[in-house]
Amino acid sequence: MKLFIDTANVDHIREIASWGVLSGVTTNPSLVAREGRDFMAVLREILAIVDGPISAEVVSTQADDMVTEARQYYELSHNIVIKLPATAEGLKACSRLTGQGVKTNLTLIFNPNQALLCARAGATFVSPFVGRLDDISTDGIQLVRDIAEIFTYHGITTEIIAASIRTPGQVVAAAKAGAHIAYSGRIRPLIPVESVHLL
Ligand code: G3P
Repeated sequence: MKLFIDTANVDHIREIASWGVLSGVTTNPSLVAREGRDFMAVLREILAIVDGPISAEVVSTQADDMVTEARQYYELSHNIVIKLPATAEGLKACSRLTGQGVKTNLTLIFNPNQALLCARAGATFVSPFVGRLDDISTDGIQLVRDIAEIFTYHGITTEIIAASIRTPGQVVAAAKAGAHIAYSGRIRPLIPVESVHLL
């Protein structure tokens, strides 16, 4: 299982990338807003640090606008992956962008049917929200397991990103459940001695 970091903090990305463990980066509008910086400038800096998929999320809600927004990000680099919500409009945008050779990460996945629809629309990645499901007394890791079983059974090549991961235990559980990738804003606690320092 690969590890992506979920942050728009360039210093944090640079530090974890220096360990040689990062395969990619995910961002979202909240994370970008937290940094108070121009998004395009942040994306350029991340692209210079990490040679792998960098997810940039659209804020539009309609497919036409999502595609227009996506093209701006994608022109920066072919390492840019367009993060789209797993809504009907997001599926439309996914299908169109896939047809243009643009990679996508379909986010806000809360059930296996959403993941299947996204895969059929051509998604490169799907992001089931493990932590958010656990928040509402649902088993987020079971969702990862279900999607992995369905994708394996049907030969679907869309990669599963276990998202909204918050604890080292969830990283292990995601790996055992068949996730291809786990992303978290907290990579440092995966090393126990470092965790002790955080307590
Ligand atoms: O990209 C979405 C992810 O950051 C959500 O994580 O911990 O806020 O559920 P969390």
